[in-house]
Amino acid sequence: MSASKLVRPDPRYKDSFLEGLDEYHSEGRQTYRSKEYVRENFEEFINDLREEKGIPHKPCQEWVELVPETVLWLVKDDLYIGTVLIRHRLNWHLEKWGGHVNFFIRPSMRGKGFGKKLLRKAMPYINHFGIERALITIAPDAKRAAHIIEQLGGEYWDTTHETDCFPVQKRYWLDCQ
Ligand SMILES: CC(C)(COP(=O)(O)OP(=O)(O)OC[C@H]1O[C@@H](n2cnc3c(N)ncnc32)[C@H](O)[C@@H]1OP(=O)(O)O)[C@@H](O)C(=O)NCCC(=O)NCCS
Repeated sequence: MSASKLVRPDPRYKDSFLEGLDEYHSEGRQTYRSKEYVRENFEEFINDLREEKGIPHKPCQEWVELVPETVLWLVKDDLYIGTVLIRHRLNWHLEKWGGHVNFFIRPSMRGKGFGKKLLRKAMPYINHFGIERALITIAPDAKRAAHIIEQLGGEYWDTTHETDCFPVQKRYWLDCQ
């Protein structure tokens, strides 16, 4: 087996990505993404991700400018393990919820050290986009994510207040220089 690495989305990982999508769906994540659509239109799906246009972020998508977003997958051989999303800049929405970076590991691969590897390997890419300090927002109960961010040198900034649009988020700054 080779070492895990970050790659741009690629049709080679189709079967494994679809299994991962099933796992995300079963915990209520990424339900906006239909598995049937992704399966039937995988090339198009990949091309969309590789265009880096960004996606409208709910719940305020009609008021939010799109921000370019680079999608990288953590893989090992043909196995899809997780995803990191790197937004090239912040907008008012991402400042409150989403940040520069979002990262997730498919449920069946959690607790094996991949979350930390994923964020660590993403740091040079984040810096490549001119982001010296990356904002990362997490749910208050996301203990594993907080632990990883702090282990990599991230500094707790604050905890936002819940509004009609936004849930409470803990915000961290991660030095990526
Ligand atoms: C957060 C997430 C990416 C972590 O991935 P993972 O592969 O499970 O994490 P790892 O195995 O690399 O590391 C988990 C670390 O948290 C620690 N940990 C586990 N449970 C913990 C808890 N309840 N409290 C504190 N630390 C905890 C582990 O001991 C490990 O630290 P160590 O390396 O010092 O031993 C993954 O759980 C996930 O995808 N969660 C859902 C999405 C999410 O919350 N994303 C982050 C928001 S941007």
